[in-house]
Amino acid sequence: MKTRLQGAAVEVDRIRSRLLAWYARTARDLPWRRSKNPYRVWVSEIMLQQTQVDRVKEYFARFLAAFPDVESLAAAREDSVLRLWEGLGYYRRARQLHAAARALVAEHGGRFPRTAEGLRALPGIGRYTANAIASIAFDAAEPIVEANSRRVLARLAGYGRPLDGPAGDEPAGDLPDRLVARRLVPRTAPGRFNQALMDLGAIVCTPARPRCSACPLAGCCAALRARRVDAIPAKAVPRTVKKIRETAVVLRHGDRVLVERRGPGAWWEGLWDFPCAVGGARGQPQGKKLGVVRYTVTQHAVARTVRVRRVVRRGAATVARRWVTVAGLADLAMTAPGRRIARLLKKPAAIC
Ligand code: ADE
Repeated sequence: MKTRLQGAAVEVDRIRSRLLAWYARTARDLPWRRSKNPYRVWVSEIMLQQTQVDRVKEYFARFLAAFPDVESLAAAREDSVLRLWEGLGYYRRARQLHAAARALVAEHGGRFPRTAEGLRALPGIGRYTANAIASIAFDAAEPIVEANSRRVLARLAGYGRPLDGPAGDEPAGDLPDRLVARRLVPRTAPGRFNQALMDLGAIVCTPARPRCSACPLAGCCAALRARRVDAIPAKAVPRTVKKIRETAVVLRHGDRVLVERRGPGAWWEGLWDFPCAVGGARGQPQGKKLGVVRYTVTQHAVARTVRVRRVVRRGAATVARRWVTVAGLADLAMTAPGRRIARLLKKPAAIC
């Protein structure tokens, strides 16, 4: 069977059999691959979005030890879920994982819907995650396309246009994931096939210096035939980064410091941080400068000046404001810059 894309013939049967044979020899031994348990597949797939495999391995082990099944996750407090997620970034993923666990327990008796469509009705489960769970845990012939497999597909098909940017976010009709992935995914072992494609992209068909001589699909690759492997996928126009300055003021009272919880819609919603304002802390006493913490978030490069100031009175605590000891900060789920400030506070320079 052949399918066509951009004039290139894509040989379905040959690709399937060669890729699966290669995977049988070289599959990476990853903790979430040791069973088809949909809960484990789900947690791993959510973590793997935007996070490298090696990093996910650590978090996955800790998360599964704390919440071994959907019931224990549903019963957890959001704070403890966020604390275990701290450092992985994109905290919305953790909040939605938690919300979906609750929905699964409340509305489905703790059992996962077995189809991609049923899975997509849960919070935080989009096309990618639904297809991953459906294909890996329930053997549904659904394609899954992430950064690695997408690159493989683009090269196989000789697809010359950029894959990301606006067109790639919700792919239009002629992008490789719609046209090729759906036709390639087999009815038998679709989950293995999908994961094989991802492994091939991660190990062989890498963005730079791909190892075409070791590739099981070299004989079917339109980009290789056209000597355009390095040019495919085409680079998207880089997005511009906006520079921002902000000031965080750590208010100290006795041995405690004030922290605030990020509100709805804010970056790092639900996580704790020190009071912070864009620009300088104008109109307020400045306090002692402790350092500058630099970080990037979405398209912003932020330089955050950190100051410490002692106060004589401390305002009342609320659900979104707490006075905690520096040691007590370890128990809170904090934003990335907030955690770095917490570390600075342990240094002698932080005493004021
Ligand atoms: N990236 C996303 N999902 C993955 C999986 N199941 N195995 C390896 N890498 C992945």
